[in-house]
Amino acid sequence: MNNSLPKLAVFISGTGTNLQALIEAAKKKKLEAEIALVVSSSEAALGLSKATKAKIPAYIYLPKEYQSKEEAAQALMGKLKEFKIDFIILAGYIKLIAGEIIAAFENRIINIHPALLPKYGGKGMYGTHVHEAVLAAGDKESGMTIHLVDEQYDHGRVLTQIKVPVYDDDTPALLAQRIQKEEHKHYPIVINKFIKGEL
Ligand code: GRF
Repeated sequence: MNNSLPKLAVFISGTGTNLQALIEAAKKKKLEAEIALVVSSSEAALGLSKATKAKIPAYIYLPKEYQSKEEAAQALMGKLKEFKIDFIILAGYIKLIAGEIIAAFENRIINIHPALLPKYGGKGMYGTHVHEAVLAAGDKESGMTIHLVDEQYDHGRVLTQIKVPVYDDDTPALLAQRIQKEEHKHYPIVINKFIKGEL
């Protein structure tokens, strides 16, 4: 562990293959940051085991357990402060980020989305729903977008987009795989540039 590196909190809700890619990049020193905390919106998220294996502290954040949205946001803020988090990296996190957190981490939260935003974004557009919609529309290309996070789903300024082809005989699973390959490759690179203020 290098204490001079910026500290990241990686937020997940599911499988955590992007988290795993970031963990591996950090090990190889290709990610110029420390993953200091993993925040999960579910205790069933498969990605949690990846955090445990890498000995990264994990925090299960369930806003519904609090009396109010404000109290929930305060609890999350407390955790982020406790771990001295500099940047929040959303990696398959399907919940909205509270306004208080967006304000406290202004321009320091990014997300990765498996489509070419502004197409196929917004509430309910996650996982296989995205790829099904792309195939149903007959698009010839799709891809991934890394963007700043604001109070709307999949909405902030785009930092990077990478395109992939869509084939005539594609399935949502095949398209998802092709896009995830790009996500895993590019997320660490974009994070490095972002935390240095180059994007
Ligand atoms: C990724 O495809 C990402 O674009 C989207 O959610 C998916 C998360 O996958 N936001 P994983 O949990 O990293 O495997």
